Amino acid sequence: MEKNWWHGKVAYQIYPRSFKDSNGDGIGDLKGIISKLDYLSDLGIDIVWLSPIYPSPFVDNGYDISDYRNIASVFGTLDDFKELLSKARERNISIILDLVVNHCSSEHELFKKALQDPSGEEGSYFYFEKGRDGHEPDNLRSYFGGSVWEKVPGHDDLYYLHYFAKEQPDFNWTNPRLREKVYDMVNFWLGMGVAGFRIDAIMNLVKDPSFPGLPPDDTDGRCACNKMTNALLGKTIPLLKELKAHTFDKCNALTVAEAFGVSDEVLPMLYGDEGCFSTLFDFAARQPYELLPGYYAFFKSTVNNYRDANFATQKKVQDSGFICPILENHDEPRSLSFYFEKGEQTPETAKALATAFMFLRGLPFIFQGQELGMTNTHFDSLEEFDDLLAKDEYQKCLSHGLSAERALQILNEQSRDHGRTPMLWDDSENAGFSSHRPWLKVHQDYKALNARAQASDPCSVLNAYRRLIALRKDERFARIFTYGTFEALLEHEDRIIAYKRTLEGRSLAVFANFRASEYQVPQSGAREVVYATSPRSGLVDGTLKLAPYSACVCLP
Ligand code: NOJ
Repeated sequence: MEKNWWHGKVAYQIYPRSFKDSNGDGIGDLKGIISKLDYLSDLGIDIVWLSPIYPSPFVDNGYDISDYRNIASVFGTLDDFKELLSKARERNISIILDLVVNHCSSEHELFKKALQDPSGEEGSYFYFEKGRDGHEPDNLRSYFGGSVWEKVPGHDDLYYLHYFAKEQPDFNWTNPRLREKVYDMVNFWLGMGVAGFRIDAIMNLVKDPSFPGLPPDDTDGRCACNKMTNALLGKTIPLLKELKAHTFDKCNALTVAEAFGVSDEVLPMLYGDEGCFSTLFDFAARQPYELLPGYYAFFKSTVNNYRDANFATQKKVQDSGFICPILENHDEPRSLSFYFEKGEQTPETAKALATAFMFLRGLPFIFQGQELGMTNTHFDSLEEFDDLLAKDEYQKCLSHGLSAERALQILNEQSRDHGRTPMLWDDSENAGFSSHRPWLKVHQDYKALNARAQASDPCSVLNAYRRLIALRKDERFARIFTYGTFEALLEHEDRIIAYKRTLEGRSLAVFANFRASEYQVPQSGAREVVYATSPRSGLVDGTLKLAPYSACVCLP
């Protein structure tokens, strides 16, 4: 495998709306991010991914872009962005942007023109189709509920395609002139100095032009559009290769794909030296939830699920490239809440989970607030949620016979808003995020659970993350953690995550105990403990003992 600049680095995702507000409007912004660069640098972060910062009506919080070459005024200006790039560079932090090109916003100039003349040039950048027998062209269900087709205003029987909200029309990637426009835009940002992109919903690019639909998978007679996406995955590859050749390749950009449901046949084409992208997120632990017909079928996950899913990926990818392990992002609930029962959602569990996560092979992405051990925010009513998906799923719960109370409970487990509530900086009003009431509810525990309190507590989750990142980059071990092989250990033990990383005969092993009782590691082979999350975990007479909810990194 060829060495690349991003190998051995640690990445961090910022959700700009919720990171830090500098101008007191209750919404995070670029100057806010600039003011926290030292925090990121102290944590040991090398790469920052910013969720979309472009102008947008914010129907889907910025994943509906109305101008690809500017900055949303709520976030600042292009000059602010250039300042962010240069101040980040001073701290050896690279910035990657979110590339959302499966769809744009219905407020984008191109789409507005397309609506005026669907058979004109701009119309050919989107999908317009006539209805069939008085219905939509097919029966696919959009990711956010309802049909993927929306009637074109002023036309009786003409629809446009949107896999996400109706305000997010899908681009027609079969049109080479549209593709050219996208490549120009990507090169515009690369030319400014961004180090790469996280690439949104990219596997959805290809559509079957006959729009055949699929057998219904729920009582609404529709079928989830991701099933069509998965069926067409292979056909996406030539388009992705072209995108890469015209853009990313020219400056060795880091590209991280958001790709769900990737089959074993397609996976090798997506990443690695010859792949369409540098790497992709490991969503294996979330994949079962992608396949659910709706939140109404929600079930609780477990730490065993996290282990089994991640281990399966680790074994699969190690010969061909790197994947990005994650615990959270802006589309997911908080990991402590997702994998653990209430009483277990503690700083101890967070530190053990962080240890189990941090040394997996690949480029780890930490999501803002994860490093504090944030749990889900408690929402008292539907009105407190912001996400359009939460609102749709709530209604779906009711229509499937769940009580309003249960529907709210499920949103409190599963909603994307848990990853979007404001970052907790200190114990002042609005958690130090803003001087104004924030756009989304602040976590109930912010008085005690915040970055300032944790910075001065040597046993905090934040300080554990700092140490773990430093250990990952420690020159004695960095090559092993970066390039070493992955070997699962004790994988049939309940609530234990253990593995070994080995390079050129040198190894490090990670052991994490998520049981409520002490765990003695059978034949750990450990000679020295280089890091432990608990003073009660370590070697006793040659036996490695792990206190409840604790983890160790060991040298054999
Ligand atoms: C995936 C993004 O992560 C999510 O937040 C967004 O709603 C969809 N793609 C649509 O862009």
